Amino acid sequence: MKILIVGGAGYIGSHMIKRFQSTDYQIEILDNLSTGFEENSQNYKLHICELSNKDQVYKILKDNKYAAVMHFASFINVGESYDNPKKYYENNVTNTLNLLDCMVDLKISKFIFSSTAAVYGEPTVVPIDESQSLNPVNPYGNTKAIVEKILGDYDKAYGLKSISLRYFNACGAHVDGTIGERHDPETHLIPLILQAASGRRENITIYGSDYPTKDGTCIRDYIHVMDLAEAHLLALESLAINQTSNIFNIGSNNGFSVNEIIQVAEEVSKKKIPIVIGPKRKGDPSKLVADNKKISQELNWTPQYSDLKTIISTAWNWEQQLTKSNS
Ligand code: UFG
Repeated sequence: MKILIVGGAGYIGSHMIKRFQSTDYQIEILDNLSTGFEENSQNYKLHICELSNKDQVYKILKDNKYAAVMHFASFINVGESYDNPKKYYENNVTNTLNLLDCMVDLKISKFIFSSTAAVYGEPTVVPIDESQSLNPVNPYGNTKAIVEKILGDYDKAYGLKSISLRYFNACGAHVDGTIGERHDPETHLIPLILQAASGRRENITIYGSDYPTKDGTCIRDYIHVMDLAEAHLLALESLAINQTSNIFNIGSNNGFSVNEIIQVAEEVSKKKIPIVIGPKRKGDPSKLVADNKKISQELNWTPQYSDLKTIISTAWNWEQQLTKSNS
């Protein structure tokens, strides 16, 4: 089966490609390299293309006869999505729609979509299962919820079958040390903490310490990027066999506070990490933890790398390489 990985040069996409290396799938990548890196394409065919260029997207899809498409190419920063919602709606919604319309026209009927826990907003019950209502509290979450709705309608009208995977907090780096998280600017907690540990930044600011949680800092469900990639592969296999659209959370079922993450990062790095307490960040729910029963039961997925020690150790290994290459 020939698969197109849209956004394959980015953080999660590159781990996906690496997971495909030990399979029989044929892989190609489409990426505009706006946030990804050419070397992440790992010698696979890379189509450098803007999703806004619908004619070019159509031609690539038509010429290469893919059986399925995985879509990782979206903007992901909650804060930026408030300041620049246009950028988010244009890329995450309009460009995704271009891709879906090309697929429908060419009768490519399998789609794996990177959704997010941000579609739930401030949840009423934690852990959150997939039946909870969607109530995103920021533009980023809105864009993903809109695409999920579009996918439901496209299935009914055009038979486009999709699996949406609602990621909780993707993190960690490949255990072989060759790829990892590299955003510019970096906004995610774990890489920022480790930059403070390696001396690439002065400190880590904790966004709010009076949340209604056990230690006052926000709780998140951190899921290792290799476990995420495995979930995508299982989703693809299930879509190929069952031809049924579905939605799954991908999380570990465990929540950790910002303070707990800092503590484990200090243990792993053996460095004291300087902390500053700052104001709350807009649009940050206090607690997001996945109920992952559905994906465990239906796709037989079990996280292998998502204990905090493995997450932080792999991310620390990667951070040390980035520190070396930047010095
Ligand atoms: N945080 C800090 N200081 C920082 C950065 C983050 O205290 O410098 C805190 C945040 O307030 C939050 C937690 O660390 O409580 C995690 O923040 P991240 O920015 O790493 O991740 P988010 O939870 O905001 O968002 C991530 C993805 C989203 C996804 C969400 C789902 O970026 O795409 O997880 O849980 F929707």
